[in-house]
Amino acid sequence: MASKIHKICCVGAGYVGGPTMAMIANKCPDIRIDVVDINEKRIAEWNSEILPIYEPGLSDLVAEARGRNLFFSTETERAIREADIIFISVNTPTKTYGQGAHRAADLRYVESVSRTIAENAEEPKIVVEKSTIPVRTAEAIRAVFDASETQHHHEVLSNPEFLAEGTAISDLESPDRILIGGEQTPGGLEAINQLADIYNRWIPEERIIKTNLWSSELSKLVANAFLAQRVSSINSISALCEKTGADVDEVAKAIGADSRIGPKFLNASIGFGGSCFEKDILNLVYLCEHFGLPEAAQYWESVLQMNDWQKQRFADQIVDSFFNTITDKVISILGFAFKKDTNDTRKSPAIDVCKRLLEEKATLLIYDPKVEPTKIYDALETDEENSNVVICSDPNQTFEKAQAIVVLTEWDEFKDIDYEAAHQAMQKPAWIFDGRNVLDHKKLTGIGFKVRSIGKPNEA
Ligand SMILES: NC(=O)c1ccc[n+]([C@@H]2O[C@H](COP(=O)([O-])OP(=O)(O)OC[C@H]3O[C@@H](n4cnc5c(N)ncnc54)[C@H](O)[C@@H]3O)[C@@H](O)[C@H]2O)c1
Repeated sequence: MASKIHKICCVGAGYVGGPTMAMIANKCPDIRIDVVDINEKRIAEWNSEILPIYEPGLSDLVAEARGRNLFFSTETERAIREADIIFISVNTPTKTYGQGAHRAADLRYVESVSRTIAENAEEPKIVVEKSTIPVRTAEAIRAVFDASETQHHHEVLSNPEFLAEGTAISDLESPDRILIGGEQTPGGLEAINQLADIYNRWIPEERIIKTNLWSSELSKLVANAFLAQRVSSINSISALCEKTGADVDEVAKAIGADSRIGPKFLNASIGFGGSCFEKDILNLVYLCEHFGLPEAAQYWESVLQMNDWQKQRFADQIVDSFFNTITDKVISILGFAFKKDTNDTRKSPAIDVCKRLLEEKATLLIYDPKVEPTKIYDALETDEENSNVVICSDPNQTFEKAQAIVVLTEWDEFKDIDYEAAHQAMQKPAWIFDGRNVLDHKKLTGIGFKVRSIGKPNEA
C-alpha cells in the first residue's frame, strides 16, 4: 500500500524531536519533515555545524538529510498547514504552581501547540503525542480541537518515545518496540496503521505494538517508573553492602543472572537523573492520588525518596571523610552531565552533590567533556564571578592542589586518565570518590589514593 504520508511536521526541536525526526528523515527520504520550534537560537543551532544537543551519531544523521528532506525552522503555522501528520514533541515539565504543584505535568506547551493546530489546520490531520504526558491527555487535546471554529476531526494518536539519551540514535535505529495507541474507531485504526507504515520502513512489524490510547499513554510513565525503580532498588542494596562487606557489583551479577530479573540497569551509582524519571514518577504519583489510590502513590514516591537519599548519602560521605570540614578544600569534579554521551544536565545528580559541597564552602574544579560552562553555572545557580566554581577544559587542570577527585558521570575517558600524575599533583592524603563505580579501585589504592565507591567494602 502506498503511504499517504508525504509531509510531517514535528513541533519541538529538543532531545526527542530532533533525533527522532532525523532518523525518520533518513529512513524515509521521500517524506518532507519540518521540525519547528519557538526557540530561534535552538533552530539556528540545528541549522549550524554544532548541533544544540550531543548524541553519538546524530551529527552524521542530520548532515545526511538536512536540506534534502529535513528542515529546521520557526515556521510552525506553515508547517502545520502543509503536514499530513503532526508530532507534538514539546517539553512537559512538572507543574510548579497551583493544583498539582510539584507533581502533575504542566501541559501548557502541549495545549498551546494543540491550539495552533486547531487554528491553522485547514483539513483533518493525524496528531501524534510524542511528548510524555499523563494518561487521558488525548481527551484534553481533543477538547481543544472540538472547541475550535474549524472543528476538523483530527485523529489523536499516542506514540511515546522510549529512546535513552546517550544511545538515542541506536535506540531509534533498532528500538525494542514502537508503541502506537489510538481510538478503536475505523478512523483511529486507519491513523494507527498510517503511522505504523512509517516505522515499518525499518522496524519489523512484530515490534510495533498497537493499543488503545490510554494504554499507550500510561505505558510510557510505567516504563520509566519501572526503570527508575530498578536503580533505586540496587542503590538501596548498595548502602547495605557498604555496611556488611558485600560487593554490590557481585550482588548485581548474581541476581542479574536470573533470567526473570536480567542483568541490565543494575549499576549502583549516586542515583538517576535526567529530565524524565523524576517528573514521570511524580506524574504517576499524582495520577494515583487523583484516582484515590494513596498506597500506590506512596509506593512510587519511595523510588524518588531513595534516589534523593542516595545522592545525599554520597555527598555526606565526602564531607565525613574530611571530618566535616571541606571549607576552602579544592575538589576535582569529573563529569557533570546526568549520564555519559550526552550534554544534558537536567536533574543531573552532579547538581545536588556539587551544591552540597559548595554549601560546605569547598572550591570545585569541574570538568565535563561535553557540557558547556554556562550550563554548569546555570545548574549551580551561580556564574564565573564565583571563585568557588572553576570550569576546566582539561581533566588534568582539576587535580592541581586538589584534595579529592569526585567522579559524577561515567564518561569512558575518565578510565584513561593518568592517575599517577593526578596523585602527584594533588594534596595528600588524596581521595577518590567514585560515584559511578567506573574506575579501577585496586590500581588507585596501589597508587596511594584513599578510595570510596558505591556499595563496596571500603578500605579504612
Ligand atoms: N529527553 C529524553 O530523553 C526523552 C525521552 C523520551 C520522552 N521524552 C519526552 O519528550 C518530550 C520532549 O522532551 P525533550 O527532552 O525533547 O524536551 P526539550 O526541552 O529538549 O525540547 C522541547 C522543545 O519544545 C519547544 N517548544 C515548547 N513549546 C513550543 C511551542 N508551543 N511551539 C514550538 N516549540 C515549542 C521548546 O522550545 C523546546 O525546544 C517531553 O515530554 C519528555 O518527557 C524525553
